[in-house]
Amino acid sequence: MAHSAVQRFYRYHAYFYDSTRWMILHGRRRAAQRLGLRPDCTVLEIGCGTGLNFPYVLEQLDARRGRVVGLDFSADMLRQAEKRVRARGWTNVELVQGDATQLRLGTKFDGILFAYSLTMIPDWPRAIQCAGEHLKPGGRLVVLDFGRFAGWGPLGAVMRGWLRANHVETLRPYVETLRKSFPSLEVFDWFGGYNFTAVGQKQGS
Ligand SMILES: C[S@@+](CC[C@H](N)C(=O)[O-])C[C@H]1O[C@@H](n2cnc3c(N)ncnc32)[C@H](O)[C@@H]1O
Repeated sequence: MAHSAVQRFYRYHAYFYDSTRWMILHGRRRAAQRLGLRPDCTVLEIGCGTGLNFPYVLEQLDARRGRVVGLDFSADMLRQAEKRVRARGWTNVELVQGDATQLRLGTKFDGILFAYSLTMIPDWPRAIQCAGEHLKPGGRLVVLDFGRFAGWGPLGAVMRGWLRANHVETLRPYVETLRKSFPSLEVFDWFGGYNFTAVGQKQGS
């Protein structure tokens, strides 16, 4: 299988991801809380990486009734996630290797989380569509990701350029596109557009 540039990027970054990303990736617990979970919910994290968000999702779930599926297309990141799951003794976390733009998991979830993954996916509209198809009616989709740094003046362009060099594209119309599928979308911006959290609910109950 041919690997994408992002998969190649994480081949090496997987090893020092956890020790470096705490400096730049913020808002995890708050985003997980915005999933509005009950103890028996099932949650899919798309682009779960090494599993840094799992603790914040799992703290809302009952260990026997709630369940988390972490999906990522990088075998290297999933290996780190697997180590975390084993070390913590989590028995209700399943890891799946797959592409966010070709999801066919055969099941629907109460909550779906993208945390700092959507902006790395070239065909991100397709990833949003796939996520919507895997959400139960009434279920919530939460997207936490880098914003446009609108309040950062000239430094905003520097940040956007640096992220682009690291496969992260911040200027696409993520919120506008999400709103088409989730008309009641709520959006929370943080620190002058450093990051945003978008929360959508699938219609129906
Ligand atoms: C910046 S990391 C975020 C990891 C984790 N969600 C976090 O908050 O630390 C982005 C992750 O998205 C994954 N990813 C990017 N494109 C993907 C795709 N098309 N399908 C599945 N995973 C993807 C990468 O492999 C990587 O693990």
